[in-house]
Amino acid sequence: MIFDTHAHYDDEQFDTDREDLLREIFSANIDKIVNVGADMETSKQSVALAKAYPQIYAAVGVHPSDIACLSEDAYTELRQLAAEDKVVAIGEIGLDYYWDKEPDVQAAQREAFKRQLALARELNLPVIVHSRDAAKDTMDILMAEEPVENPGIIHCYSYSVEQAKEYVKRGYYIGVGGVVTFKNSKVLKQVVEEIPLERIVVETDCPYLAPEPNRGKRNASLNLPYIVDKIAQIKGISGKEVEEVTYENALKVYRL
Ligand code: NI
Repeated sequence: MIFDTHAHYDDEQFDTDREDLLREIFSANIDKIVNVGADMETSKQSVALAKAYPQIYAAVGVHPSDIACLSEDAYTELRQLAAEDKVVAIGEIGLDYYWDKEPDVQAAQREAFKRQLALARELNLPVIVHSRDAAKDTMDILMAEEPVENPGIIHCYSYSVEQAKEYVKRGYYIGVGGVVTFKNSKVLKQVVEEIPLERIVVETDCPYLAPEPNRGKRNASLNLPYIVDKIAQIKGISGKEVEEVTYENALKVYRL
């Protein structure tokens, strides 16, 4: 069985065939999915999907590129959403300096990240961290926290081996998705090689980031075996072992 630890089935790209596709996924080798919110609306949709499908769980949170929606009322609503059944994490939250270069916008991102992080700790939920072009500030914020037993996942990990080891030492899981199958993902392959399998979870981030040989197409959880196989190949172990261990890891981090 494979656990998709990060998906966006609320996305409009799934509007035409969501139900059929999910049925196909659950009759394949995939039996659990965490649907991740990126703003208030998609956080609500994630909770709704978790209510509609026994195999789906939800994460609620506001992505760094969407923080304009974070009014005081929105924080109150986020806290209420986080208390809903089957909400297993706060995410995705973090920093994205790739899309936002303005210093004041980046400062606002840090503020929203810290505040949602504090909410997660208060509610004793792990976080799903999105971080792009913001390696140092992300690490500074996460390491400034009081260490907790189950801090969460660094999703779609894209930084150095050294930083991955730091996160692992702190108890984080490293989210590995389609990028690991890309020809130019040399550093991520090194990360997978050097950190223990016990700290890796697999994810699609669908509809984005489809793995080879489907790169550029709409992604879905049916592509997870390509990611599992690539990890197995890098680590020189069987795909079955990768499946089993990463599945257990996902159960642990989401406390299922
Ligand atoms: Ni995502």
